[in-house]
Amino acid sequence: NAHQWQAPLPTDLRGPCPGLNTLANHGFLPRNGSNITIPIVLKAINDGFNFESTNLIRSGAKLGLFTTDAEDSFNLNDLALHGTLEHDVSLSRSDFALGDNIHFNETVFSTLANSNPGVDFYNVTSAAQVLEQRLAEDNILNPTLINTVKEFTVRIVESGFYLSVMGNVTTGVAPKNFVQIFFQEERLPLEEGWKRSEVPIGDDNFNALLAGIKNASTWAPSGEVICPWIRIQ
Ligand code: HEM
Ligand code: MG
Repeated sequence: NAHQWQAPLPTDLRGPCPGLNTLANHGFLPRNGSNITIPIVLKAINDGFNFESTNLIRSGAKLGLFTTDAEDSFNLNDLALHGTLEHDVSLSRSDFALGDNIHFNETVFSTLANSNPGVDFYNVTSAAQVLEQRLAEDNILNPTLINTVKEFTVRIVESGFYLSVMGNVTTGVAPKNFVQIFFQEERLPLEEGWKRSEVPIGDDNFNALLAGIKNASTWAPSGEVICPWIRIQ
């Protein structure tokens, strides 16, 4: 099967995005993680996740090009360029200033993993709490972390990604075991019963999900960067 999960080879490139890494591990993106163009990534996200090529997804893909000098493609590891898409206070990776902003980090991920105790799912409320808890933890470890409205917006989108792609975009509920396999193994939990979203994930349902996470959050900017620039390689 062309879309069987395979662990990446040592020479295959992977990066800070569990979503794109997973698509590469299943052959929706080139398994070597290289030379990814905008049309290639948009098709992979649609084929793998039933996520439409919304403005948000297209903008994310275009920002990916800013992380490299190549004309019209990026490699998955390029995406780690700090300050373009990659940001502090991730759910599953450490901060750039703390040494490794690319690889899965079990300690960082334990905040999300252990959230919403007593039930077997994550939801909009737990996702919002995790965003705040990660910020509180990280403020101690990395007092110079960057936390502007740009980071806030991107982090909400990423929480929306795991709730919708691993769960249900309409209810915002995602089974814990699916989310954990997705982050820890960068694998689609097909054997465990996961199915690609039956409804296309698009602007209307995804924006409603993001609004739910945002409403459940209390957030304030902190640190010295007042104006959130995009860094270009
Ligand atoms: C994080 C790139 C699409 C899921 C990231 C990060 C980058 C990135 C650079 C690292 C941010 C950070 O945590 O510091 C992209 C690009 C995309 C894309 C260029 C396509 C245009 C997706 C999709 C999903 C996804 C479709 C769906 C599952 C995630 C999640 C995170 C993330 C959950 C948060 C990881 C964490 O906080 O540890 N993405 N991504 N991404 N991405 Fe993607
Ligand atoms: Mg990060």
